[in-house]
Amino acid sequence: MIKAGVIGYPISQSKSPKIHGYWLNRYGIKGSYTAMAVPPDEFAHTIDKLAADGFTGFNVTIPHKQAIIPFCGVLTPNAQKIGAVNTVFIRNGILHGDNTDAFGFTQNLDEKQPNFDWTAGPAVVLGAGGAARAILYALEQSGVSQIYLANRTKAKAEELAAAFPKVRVVDWERRSDVLENINLLVNTTALGMVGQEPLTIDLAALPAAATVYDIVYSPLITPLLAQAKEKGCTVVTGIGMLLHQARPGFQGWFGTKNLPEVTAELEELLLKN
Ligand code: ATR
Repeated sequence: MIKAGVIGYPISQSKSPKIHGYWLNRYGIKGSYTAMAVPPDEFAHTIDKLAADGFTGFNVTIPHKQAIIPFCGVLTPNAQKIGAVNTVFIRNGILHGDNTDAFGFTQNLDEKQPNFDWTAGPAVVLGAGGAARAILYALEQSGVSQIYLANRTKAKAEELAAAFPKVRVVDWERRSDVLENINLLVNTTALGMVGQEPLTIDLAALPAAATVYDIVYSPLITPLLAQAKEKGCTVVTGIGMLLHQARPGFQGWFGTKNLPEVTAELEELLLKN
């Protein structure tokens, strides 16, 4: 029995057990994927225990994505540049820390819009939290030549601009003024999520040829995406990013030849509850 799982605190909100459970079943693999609620003071002890118990790896979620770094003997370039780990592979007792959020972000758009040209123009990114960092990395890796970054707390955007040379910081209040000629608009903030205020932005200057990508997936069509659709823009929902980021972990832990597939059935399963 191959063992993997996810560590977070709290953990009940995690959709990862459902995703990996679906794939274990689909590919007929004798394995388990367990959700583990681990408070910070039990973190070190739990990591040692998982390795001793024969886990082949695990996902790490809030609040441990940075705390795991000192435990990793190896960090992938993605994890180093993003400064956070969400996927760990245990090989010969050594923890290999990876970050698959950038992969998830890029794969989702490439799959939904196979003709999307990342280099066709600048991108605008809203928000400067953990997700934004992975997305800036993904955009730079995909060859986006210029990225405008707006965040309510400007200092956080400036910190990211120092790490990513293609980024130019824009005042949060001016977020509607940089949309002319852009190719891609990405919301990485929590705005628009159930229970949060909607994201307010004036899309008048946004070209109809632009793509709008919201990483919020509850609701699937956020007020931002609804507004963008009305303009005739292509929209990309956030559920796919969550699904795609899970693929490299599954392949590594359970030893499948190929990355597991993101199917419509899996997407529906996650959206149901
Ligand atoms: P994640 O890891 O999902 O990116 P996070 O690190 O908590 O989560 O980041 C949340 C992002 O949403 C931040 O960019 C935050 O802006 P601040 O840096 O100013 O906090 C943004 N955000 C949350 N609530 C917001 C609001 N009401 N208005 C504008 N931005 C908001």
